[in-house]
Amino acid sequence: MVLIMAYIKSAALEETGYVVLDRYNQELDPKEWLDIEFVDWKSSGETQFAPLASAFGEVECNGFWNHKPPRTDKDGVWVDSQVAKAPNLTRRAQEPGANVGRCRVIELQPNNYADALYNLHQDDNNRLNPDGTGWVVRGFFNLTDDKDSYFVLRDNRTDPSVEYRIALPAGAQLIVDTQRLWHAAAHNGTEPRYCLITSWESGPELDAYIEKYNGVARVPNFEVAQEILDAGQAEQTRRLAARAAALAARGVAETSVMSEA
Ligand SMILES: [Fe+2]
Repeated sequence: MVLIMAYIKSAALEETGYVVLDRYNQELDPKEWLDIEFVDWKSSGETQFAPLASAFGEVECNGFWNHKPPRTDKDGVWVDSQVAKAPNLTRRAQEPGANVGRCRVIELQPNNYADALYNLHQDDNNRLNPDGTGWVVRGFFNLTDDKDSYFVLRDNRTDPSVEYRIALPAGAQLIVDTQRLWHAAAHNGTEPRYCLITSWESGPELDAYIEKYNGVARVPNFEVAQEILDAGQAEQTRRLAARAAALAARGVAETSVMSEA
């Protein structure tokens, strides 16, 4: 007898690696993200993060596997001081009833499409995650009304043939398998973008949540002029080559500097 173990994954994410849920009425909620405490945490682009749940309930953002004892991105501990200031964000992260790992608000400074392509990365969501348990994916709830901004998702980092561009108005709600899809945000604007990012364990609770809010595996791509797409692709190629050359000169492997967030 051969016993084949596998992670529990959401069927809803199988086709594309993401789902877009019904839009949340963000305008009715207070701007809690302006009240919580942010800490420096380098991700893709110029960023800060405000943890709502962390490895031990401290105001820090490190991967749970970097703590002692190391563990996977599950069973996050809510940060009392942050939860007190952001009850609505906390409620929304807890609503699915799925296990929550890290839960954080990201602050992203303005950038452009070429920056997003350069920033494309995959998350290290399932390190130390035991086979046979739920695959960790991430929820993204856009908080600011970023009408000219969009999430960029690709199957392959440097191949534009499969690229999903998801609009990021206030209340946009996505769930993404960010270990499968390369991703980054193109944030055209003058003010920082804020987004609640929650690590959830896949399973029946998350499936029910996706169904409740009518998750769809495809939405129309955010429209971007072909010349911007072409210029962005060329710029990504140029920057990645320049970085590879710089790293090679220092004898550093590309994989050792992949951004994680
Ligand atoms: Fe990420």
